[in-house]
Amino acid sequence: MAVTQRINDLNELPLISRQRRERVLSGIQPTADSFHLGNYLGAMRHWVNMQATHDCFCFIPDLHAITMAHDPAALARRTRVAVAQLLAVGIDPQRSTLFVQSHVPEHSQLAWVLGCITGFGEASRMTQFKDKSSKGGAERASVGLFTYPVLQAADILLYQADAVPVGEDQRQHLELSRDLAQRFNKTFGNTFTVPEPHIVKDTAKITDLQSPTAKMSKSASSPQGIVNLLDEPKAIIKKFRAAVTDANREVIFDPEHKPGISNLLTIYSSFSGKSVPDIEAGYAGRGYGDFKSELAELVVEALTPIRERTQQYLDDPAQLDAILADGATKARAVAGHTLAAVYERVGFLTA
Ligand code: TYM
Repeated sequence: MAVTQRINDLNELPLISRQRRERVLSGIQPTADSFHLGNYLGAMRHWVNMQATHDCFCFIPDLHAITMAHDPAALARRTRVAVAQLLAVGIDPQRSTLFVQSHVPEHSQLAWVLGCITGFGEASRMTQFKDKSSKGGAERASVGLFTYPVLQAADILLYQADAVPVGEDQRQHLELSRDLAQRFNKTFGNTFTVPEPHIVKDTAKITDLQSPTAKMSKSASSPQGIVNLLDEPKAIIKKFRAAVTDANREVIFDPEHKPGISNLLTIYSSFSGKSVPDIEAGYAGRGYGDFKSELAELVVEALTPIRERTQQYLDDPAQLDAILADGATKARAVAGHTLAAVYERVGFLTA
């Protein structure tokens, strides 16, 4: 669509319409061969549930995935597996706009503009950059890794998202998105919805089964510490059996003194729908062994259909491509509208 056309449309369509359903947007990086229980319980499951009440945008941030050294063939494979897993957990392309970030060039275009109103010091304070760059030394970290949170702000602001359902680790990036939206609005006129983080406390940080005070992480967890959505039942059972637990044998929720058992109780409660006190009561006097093996069974039962459906989607690449093409068209219609307003407001001539 020509930029002039888009700007004409702007006069007819209010950018920040209050008529529509609340909009949510979130993304998950294609940086592993499978997503894990932290991704699922902390984020993906909320996206699926919110489809009933919200206008949902859900995407795979492949541009973010090249901010660290990567293998191109693995990225392409993982992007497909990522989309298949989102469909398999219940993201419905009829109800949600499901797309791949690099199919919507407006993300990079808005990121440039936002980068120009982001302070160098402000970007330097992002703890994920500090963590990730500390591994190889800041000197060797890419500029892309440094500006990663600005691209994330562009992802969110392009769609005028009201809420962003994420885990706790994304809180600081969301603060930056809010600051940039407010700064832009103040400087150039009201353009962006200021997004609210949607962080569900109970599942905001699922921890590593081997180091129960650290978050379960695609990049940092050991294979034994991470339960993948695509793990075979045998592997899931083995990992729960070997999960690090705490002194004494009582199944009690006490994150400070019993982080291992508390994490397992959170997972149990999420999959069974039972409250933590009910689970505690059910295992009173029975010890960790029964609890761990019944938890493993619950998780196997929940993940087996997800694994099978993922494979079915992967077996039909033409269908995946069609879903993504449709998602990109829908996403670009919204993103183009916002970008045209931004370009006009910062003083760019229309092409
Ligand atoms: P990513 O790919 O690391 O994680 C995807 C989602 O999973 C959540 N999560 C967890 N939640 C609970 N416990 C855990 N152990 C756990 N590990 C991960 C994350 O908080 C996230 O919600 N920067 C983002 C991707 C992104 C994005 C966006 C998100 C790019 N643009 C715009 C929201 C909006 C990331 O790396 O997520």
